[in-house]
Amino acid sequence: MPLTTIAKLLQEARHVVVFTGAGVSAESGIPTFRDALTGLWSRFDPAQLATAEAFRADPGLCWGWYEWRRLKVLQAQPNAAHLAIAELAQHVPKPTVVTQNVDDLHERAGSQDVIHLHGSLRAPRCIDCGHAHVTSLPSNELPVDGCRLEPPRCAECNGYIRPGVVWFGEMLPESAWSAGLTAAGNCDLFFSIGTSGVVFPAAELPLRALGAGARVVHVNPVRFEVSGQEVFLQGPASVMQELVESAFG
Ligand code: OAD
Repeated sequence: MPLTTIAKLLQEARHVVVFTGAGVSAESGIPTFRDALTGLWSRFDPAQLATAEAFRADPGLCWGWYEWRRLKVLQAQPNAAHLAIAELAQHVPKPTVVTQNVDDLHERAGSQDVIHLHGSLRAPRCIDCGHAHVTSLPSNELPVDGCRLEPPRCAECNGYIRPGVVWFGEMLPESAWSAGLTAAGNCDLFFSIGTSGVVFPAAELPLRALGAGARVVHVNPVRFEVSGQEVFLQGPASVMQELVESAFG
């Protein structure tokens, strides 16, 4: 479907859900999970670092990986896609941003009430007692690419501090998941941007929207098969800027 036709859908929409994955932050320099990694971390499979078992087996490796990602995020800026998504709030009666990302680039672009399905890099906690840990600002101790870093210890029980993200095998935060489901079930236009759509339950959301009668638009530079009811917009996430300009000038 041409961009101008999607822009028309956007103009007419009452409730727009923007569901994002790692690809929306790619143009800010944050590596995605399933695209080839460069540098020393390319030796590791991110999915294998994203479990409680991996953390317990090698806390320094796992913490080092997440601290490296946190550093990348701190050094990054929101890109044109984050900004265009935030701008939707000025034009659309009800925009809802639901993200699988653990960065804060949507918020820094101006989006409000972002639903984080997979937690946040900014909310580490004790792996044993759950006590919240106050993150320190970047220091010289931040890991260089591919390095282990000993996690801090919990002030309450001396357990290891773990990243505040959702790992494979863990439940999504209940309030975020329920808000995501509600938004997907009530919207009339659903954008799925920069996600491979292979990690469940998050990947259920476009299906939920489709089932409830919404138009679903996938934005991705890599074409994949979609059903006849879905729309594919091929391009990087920043094509959202062109779309918002085309719809609202
Ligand atoms: P993936 O790394 O699986 O997929 C990234 C998607 O972004 C791919 O479809 C790419 O084609 C696309 N992409 C790459 N560059 C892009 C760009 N410039 N603009 C738009 N799209 C681009 O990331 P996610 O789908 O977010 O979960 O992964 C889902 C979950 O799996 C993550 O939240 C994380 C991960 O393991 C957990 O850690 C639980």
